[in-house]
Amino acid sequence: MTNCLKNPYAFIDADVMKVVDESSNIKTFTLKPRESISFRAGQFMEVTLPGIGEAPFTPSSNHNSAKTLDFTIMSAGRVTKLLHQAKTGDVIGLRGPYGTQYPLDKFKQREVFIVGGGVGLAPLRALLYALFNEVGDYKKIILRYGARTSGDIIYKNEIDSWKARAGHIDIKVTCDVGDPSWNGNVGLVTTILKTEKLDIDNAVAIVCGPPIMMKFATFKLLDLGFKEGQIYLSMEKNMSCGIGKCGHCRIGPYYACKDGPVFSYDKIKELPNIWD
Ligand SMILES: Cc1cc2nc3c(=O)[nH]c(=O)nc-3n(C[C@H](O)[C@H](O)[C@H](O)COP(=O)(O)OP(=O)(O)OC[C@H]3O[C@@H](n4cnc5c(N)ncnc54)[C@H](O)[C@@H]3O)c2cc1C
Ligand code: FES
Repeated sequence: MTNCLKNPYAFIDADVMKVVDESSNIKTFTLKPRESISFRAGQFMEVTLPGIGEAPFTPSSNHNSAKTLDFTIMSAGRVTKLLHQAKTGDVIGLRGPYGTQYPLDKFKQREVFIVGGGVGLAPLRALLYALFNEVGDYKKIILRYGARTSGDIIYKNEIDSWKARAGHIDIKVTCDVGDPSWNGNVGLVTTILKTEKLDIDNAVAIVCGPPIMMKFATFKLLDLGFKEGQIYLSMEKNMSCGIGKCGHCRIGPYYACKDGPVFSYDKIKELPNIWD
């Protein structure tokens, strides 16, 4: 810990306890840090391969489970391809947590409408577990999730167990492209954003996914009657330092790593390139 105070880039060693293949290019890693790390749903951490590089990821596990953290990681490029080679027993570095959390206090006594796309379900899984911790405090929890194909759906078994919490959560999943093994909705996630049973004046929406999906989901939510301040976005901008020093993650006057990644839409809607 003293080391961390001296050097903001110092990381804590974490043991890889478990690796789950979620899809052909997404894996969930359960890591056990050798010093305690406490995060809140929505915050992110830099995951480090010593001597190779690091990249930002949002823990996808319950923030109340202090001993281990899950990271659900899509293989996208140099660092993530190498991270995908990690096996149980390997050691990985972690620094953080950084950034803003989901403002759970503002969600209390309200209907929480969660919209995810692809690996964007990772931070939303942490949010769902945080909501489940105090499920009686929220009027309704609704999850709408879109994946490219049925093979790309992550947390398949868990989604079934979340569905079993009927009465607490209403879940719909869609695939952009159908196939014989998929008998659910076919179409983009925006095709399942219907809100007939929602008390929109008393709801909040949380969106996370690829930028193009976030853009069209946000516009659809606005069409449905959500106000800009009721929509929360996880802005996964390209980051480097993660601590407000390098300027890589600028969104207008904000740094996504310090002022975000969770922003309400009204705060950033006028800024250029928010959907890039
Ligand atoms: C706050 C935050 C939380 C994130 N959480 C997760 C998560 O939980 N799971 C997950 O799989 N990914 C997450 N990401 C995205 C992840 O950080 C990138 O996929 C990763 O940095 C790519 O690193 P790389 O070296 O493998 O790829 P690179 O070789 O650097 O890039 C490969 C490709 O990925 C693109 N890319 C790089 N960084 C990002 C980024 N931040 N967002 C989108 N595309 C990017 C590049 O433009 C390029 O096309 C998060 C990003 C941020 C900023
Ligand atoms: S990542 Fe360096 S300032 Fe945000």
